[in-house]
Amino acid sequence: MKVLIHATPELAIARAADQIVARLDALPGTVLGLATGGTMEAVYARLIEHHRRGEVSFAQSRSFNLDEYVGLPPDHPRSYWRYMRGHLFDHVDFAEGATHLPRGDAADPEAEAAAYEKAIAAAGDIGLQLLGLGANGHIGFNEPTSSLSSLTRIKTLTRSTREANARYFDNPDDVPRLAITMGIGTIMRADEVVLLAYGDSKAEAAAAMIEGPLSAACPASALQMHRKATIVLDQAAASRLKLRDYYEEVHPGGRDDLV
Ligand code: F6R
Repeated sequence: MKVLIHATPELAIARAADQIVARLDALPGTVLGLATGGTMEAVYARLIEHHRRGEVSFAQSRSFNLDEYVGLPPDHPRSYWRYMRGHLFDHVDFAEGATHLPRGDAADPEAEAAAYEKAIAAAGDIGLQLLGLGANGHIGFNEPTSSLSSLTRIKTLTRSTREANARYFDNPDDVPRLAITMGIGTIMRADEVVLLAYGDSKAEAAAAMIEGPLSAACPASALQMHRKATIVLDQAAASRLKLRDYYEEVHPGGRDDLV
């Protein structure tokens, strides 16, 4: 794992966005794995800025999002499909049909999950996977105790995840209980992974992910086994790392050879 600790959330966000720009520059046909949530809003805003300045194009790439709520049709205001259109897809140059999310309103969600997994594999698997981190250590919606070799499937969201996401819904009871999510095994097949986390609320999960045991109790700890995982944190999210001095010595200010 490459652990990059930045002075501010803004610098961490910029570093995560830069990794996507660098990947698309080197390999324009990259299959991107994309995430939603509060953390990613600023990353997508930066990517849109880069795109408007002519510094990045998505025209030859394809994307697969990590997850979608079961029961929400694509045009539902809280669906992840709507989130992605609003925060990225409508503002950059992906080709028609190049962006994918599972259908939350599929008649048979299990079949939809299996078909989504197949589509990812048929695309040659994810080239660069962008990840956020749940305060409980989840990646995608792989909640604690998820199999570390799981594939795309239905997961029941924990109460804490539903509470964390209630801010997007008018009524906390409206947060769906189930989601279709890429599995940890799906994510682990990605060529490279960049996980971004900032703020105090992520400090405990970040420490468990980086320095805790490899354990389904913290699904993100599976990234310890990934060949090319970059973890981008701000000072607050890094505050519980025991080897923080070491990471800061290797990568002062979170700098590495990407920038
Ligand atoms: C969303 C996703 C989740 C989020 C995580 C953090 O597609 O896969 O794992 O990345 O729940 O969410 P925020 O960024 O809202 O704290």
